Amino acid sequence: MNIDLLSPASFASGHPLAQYRWLRENQPVFWHEEPNGKGFWAVTRYKDVWEVDRDFQNFSSEPTIMIQDPAAEQALGFGGYKMMLMMDPPQHTAYRKLIRSEFTQPLAADRTPRMNALARQIVDEVIERGECDFVSQVAGEMPSYVIAELLGIPLDDGRELYKLTEAIHTAPEAQEANAGGMAVLKMFEYGRKVIEEKRARPKDDLATKLLQAEVDGKKLDDIEFLLFFLLLVDAGGDTTRNLLSAGLIALFDNPDQLAWLKTDLDSRLPSAREELLRYTSPVIYMRRTAKQDVVLGGQKINEGDKVVMYFGSANRDPEKFTDSDKLDLSRSPNEHIAFGTGPHGCLGQHIARIEIDAILREVLTRMDGLKIAAAAEWLPSNFISGPKHLPVKFKAAKRAA
Ligand code: HEM
Repeated sequence: MNIDLLSPASFASGHPLAQYRWLRENQPVFWHEEPNGKGFWAVTRYKDVWEVDRDFQNFSSEPTIMIQDPAAEQALGFGGYKMMLMMDPPQHTAYRKLIRSEFTQPLAADRTPRMNALARQIVDEVIERGECDFVSQVAGEMPSYVIAELLGIPLDDGRELYKLTEAIHTAPEAQEANAGGMAVLKMFEYGRKVIEEKRARPKDDLATKLLQAEVDGKKLDDIEFLLFFLLLVDAGGDTTRNLLSAGLIALFDNPDQLAWLKTDLDSRLPSAREELLRYTSPVIYMRRTAKQDVVLGGQKINEGDKVVMYFGSANRDPEKFTDSDKLDLSRSPNEHIAFGTGPHGCLGQHIARIEIDAILREVLTRMDGLKIAAAAEWLPSNFISGPKHLPVKFKAAKRAA
């Protein structure tokens, strides 16, 4: 089996499931060559991925969670600063604490009516047209509006920022030179305006809270704020969008499952959404770096080696999930790892769940005769999985008064 988990082409129509299967069955901790780097261990079994993600003593998130080490100029550009996604405890714990209380399950639940209203507004925008690009006009709108509301910036600005995340996540070889770097700069430019605005006119929003927050008795400086800002816009954007879009494809590929869901949408949505998370796994990987020599799944790993967790493979591991390649919207229990686990486990997961439910409910009840009009074009990325475009057709359902 030719194993290539680096080339975006391997992800051109979704996760490379055949490669994952071969790796789980033959070399679950596999040494993967890297043309412009020193190589990495690809970890593909559920139990090993789980172990690496939770064991921050042996597996560090520093210096980065991307396979490629940061370019020297980039490290200089941030002057040694980094996002909390790339910190280890106890530093990570102190930074995460700053925003943790904003992302609890009860607070997310309080936001449900507003998120339902946003979902309704998004579907209102397209419903009379009878066709749209599901990715950009429906699925992508939701997380960009939600993050804008959380941060306290105009919804339209959220949409513009969100477009930049796509460039940040797209493989460099699949777009114009330095498009990713330019997108980060534009994001920072906007973030600077937010700093000015929120310092001048503080509000009850996450951006203001971050600017007033303190770590070890010291307020966040501008760069620390900008990195938080980038993380929040980036982490919640195309992950949620891709779950919704790849999820819709999965539902249409499995009409019996779609019919089952629609028969009793409200009570079946929770298990269906968890299964779509497992089945589509929007985040392809997170990397760690071994802090000392360690043995993983029987394989010796040397200090300094890169160790890469493949969530989409862990989520299809038959040792963990019965009929793991089958979409079973009633699956229970469903301990998928699409949100990661351990100290960095997705902070936005409660919000993401409400966003997903809100859009799926609107789409599946209001878009009559919904169908996929042309094959999806997938993101050329080995980091984030999902369709780039998904043309759909539908009619407006008659609504009960
Ligand atoms: C379907 C949607 C989403 C998926 C699949 C997803 C997945 C993930 C994954 C895999 C991680 C890394 C976990 C690890 O290393 O163990 C993560 C981290 C994170 N996510 Fe999400 N995410 C989603 C939505 C969101 C949303 C909506 C937000 C914010 C509003 C968000 C904010 C974050 C943050 C801040 C982190 C970093 C946490 C840390 O470093 O402590 N995510 N997410």
